[in-house]
Amino acid sequence: MNVFWRPPCLLLLGVLWASLSPSSSSGVWIPPHDQVARVARFVAHQCDWASMATISTHKPVVGQPFSNAFSVSDGQRGSSSGVPYMYLTRLEISVQDLKANPAASLSMSLAQTDYCREQGFDPQSPLCARIILSGSVVEANGTEAEFAKTALFSRHPEMVYWPSDHNWFFAKFNITQVWVLDYFGGVKTVTPEEYFQASPYRKHH
Ligand SMILES: *[C@@H]1O[C@H](CO)[C@@H](O)[C@H](O)[C@H]1NC(C)=O
Ligand SMILES: *[C@@H]1O[C@H](CO)[C@@H](O)[C@H](O)[C@H]1NC(C)=O
Repeated sequence: MNVFWRPPCLLLLGVLWASLSPSSSSGVWIPPHDQVARVARFVAHQCDWASMATISTHKPVVGQPFSNAFSVSDGQRGSSSGVPYMYLTRLEISVQDLKANPAASLSMSLAQTDYCREQGFDPQSPLCARIILSGSVVEANGTEAEFAKTALFSRHPEMVYWPSDHNWFFAKFNITQVWVLDYFGGVKTVTPEEYFQASPYRKHH
C-alpha cells in the first residue's frame, strides 16, 4: 500500500512512534551499531536460515566455493546460545562436501527479517546488518544435540516430519571468526569469545 494514501492521522501516529523508538522508526529494535558483538548475536538469533558455503567435492566445480541455504537456529526465541545449529543428512550435497572438508562459512542477514524492508535498506546496504561466520561444521552430541533439537524444531516445526530414512543428525557451526557488516566504514571482526559474551537482547539477562 502506498504510504501517501494513508489517512494523515496514521502518518502522525507513525511519527509519534518513531520519536518514541530510539534506534528504529519501524519499531524493530536492534543493538547500537558500535556494539558490534551484540549486533552479531542479534543477527544470529533473528535469522531462521543461513547461506552456507563449502568447498565443493562435486564435478565440475571441485575445489570451488559452493553456497547453499540451510535452516538454522541458535535457540528457541528468547533463548539465544549464539551457536548456529542445523539438522543435516549425509545425502545432502553440501554435507557431502563437509565430509571431505568440514571448513565452511555461514552468512546471515537481517534482509530475511522485516527490519531492512521496513527501514528501506537494500540487502547490500551496510545498514542492513549481516554477519559472516568462519569455522567448521561438527556433529552435536549428547545434551548439546538435545538443545539443538529444541532450538531447531521450535522454529522449524516441519522438521519433525522430514523423512526418517534420511538419517538426520544435529550439527553445530564451530565459530572461529565473526565478521560484521552493520554500518559504513567496512567490515568489523569479533572474536568467538567477544561474540559469546555479548547479549543479543535489549535488556541484559
Ligand atoms: C560428536 O561425536 C562425533 C562422533 O563421535 C565427533 O566426531 C564430534 O566431534 C562430536 N562433536 C562434538 C561437538 O564434540
Ligand atoms: C572448533 O574449532 C577449533 C578451531 O579450529 C578447534 O580447535 C576445535 O577442535 C573445534 N571443535 C570441534 C568440536 O571440532
